[in-house]
Amino acid sequence: MNLSPKQIVNELNKHIIGQEEAKKAVAIALRNRYRRAQLSQELRDEITPKNIIMKGPTGVGKTEIARRLAKLVKAPFVKVEATKYTEVGYVGKDVEGMVRDLVECAYRLVKDEKAKEVRVKATDAAEKKMVKLLAELKKNDRGETAREVFEQDLLESLRKGAFDDTVIEADVKDEIKAMELMPGGAAINLGSIFGEVLPPKRKKRKLTVKEAMQLYIAEESEKLIDEDAAKEEALRRAENDGIIFIDEIDKIAGKESGSIDVSREGVQRDILPIVEGTTVMTKYGAVKTDYILFIAAGAFHVSKVEDLIPELQGRFPVSVELKSLTKEDFVQILTNTEHSLTQQYAVLLAVDNIDLKFTPDAIDAIAEISEEINLTSEDIGARRLHTVMEYLLEDISFNAGGSDYPVIPVEINRAYVEEHLKNMTSDRNLKKYVL
Ligand SMILES: Nc1ncnc2c1ncn2[C@@H]1O[C@H](COP(=O)(O)OP(=O)(O)OP(=O)(O)O)[C@@H](O)[C@H]1O
Ligand SMILES: [Mg+2]
Repeated sequence: MNLSPKQIVNELNKHIIGQEEAKKAVAIALRNRYRRAQLSQELRDEITPKNIIMKGPTGVGKTEIARRLAKLVKAPFVKVEATKYTEVGYVGKDVEGMVRDLVECAYRLVKDEKAKEVRVKATDAAEKKMVKLLAELKKNDRGETAREVFEQDLLESLRKGAFDDTVIEADVKDEIKAMELMPGGAAINLGSIFGEVLPPKRKKRKLTVKEAMQLYIAEESEKLIDEDAAKEEALRRAENDGIIFIDEIDKIAGKESGSIDVSREGVQRDILPIVEGTTVMTKYGAVKTDYILFIAAGAFHVSKVEDLIPELQGRFPVSVELKSLTKEDFVQILTNTEHSLTQQYAVLLAVDNIDLKFTPDAIDAIAEISEEINLTSEDIGARRLHTVMEYLLEDISFNAGGSDYPVIPVEINRAYVEEHLKNMTSDRNLKKYVL
């Protein structure tokens, strides 16, 4: 990752409108990791990341910035909700789970990269295996053809996809299925726990050639990847490039009152060592958390940053504020972002042969009405656009549905917007769209 801070901001600009201060802060933090990586080990040890705290109202881009950032840098990234640790039944110390998840993420990144590196070799080996199977299956077709020629023909047909749907009996690794152990979807892959202890069982399965090839390629690349090196690399990346995004941090701040709140400060105290730098044991090995970048975010409309325990505040030296979005921002969000909402609806409806277009004054009206609703009822930021657009296009979305009709052009102009949204500020119907 060697994008300059300006380039990072440019990339973020494709998706997030405004919030310059926050974009700048994350861009600098990111670049500083690259800068640090260029230094001698001695200096590197001295330099810890400047963690960031982002505050601002709901729906203005806090999570979105973090999400886009992670995609951009291909760094190991996890997002946790601080409130998760205050839930009833939560038994202390599990905050370390965020670090384990980060390492897990780093490991997957590394494995994906290595799999790409060995892809050609793995495909080669898988093809060889498959050709043997096919040669056996089709042995009656061989006749007088020399074995090598016959196998070469099979290989070429295989590559062309001629056998994609042919069902064969393939000898594959018997994966132990992931089991859902806890309600709420926390799944544990028993295979990955016991897989390293027990020798892999193999079994015969009826599969199409296409499916079997995928499994074979995966198996072969597994053989080609040096597992220990991958683990080490994963640990190194988690330690040095990892980003942990702690969302809803404001929900664990605040004055103590009653029993629920006791756990809030408890959670802050649990998180503190991780942010300060500690060693966490993971199934890949020990990870030092000193150089992980932490970005915390919260609306802070009930509590303040100052309500966090001072030790924790001190660990987030960079504090940036995100601003409420205005009508002009909404216009930009609707028209000037990659895969903007208007484009999303257009491509969705294009599936049903609707050619949806918005005139500039329609966009203007949507932005204006969204701002107005945010000002008069609750300010939910850009999320308002989602509710407004859904409401606006409900009729069209509902009535479209026959791709056998010819393409129907539909132009949304200001009049259409005003007509369809006129009830929205007062209409009780709106309730069902309020998030
Ligand atoms: N500045 C912005 N530019 C473009 N899109 C935005 C912007 N702010 C928010 N959005 C869009 O609004 C939605 C909600 O944004 P996001 O999840 O970042 O809110 P948030 O600030 O994290 O709010 P919360 O405090 O409720 O978690 C996302 O779909 C996002 O794409
Ligand atoms: Mg958020």
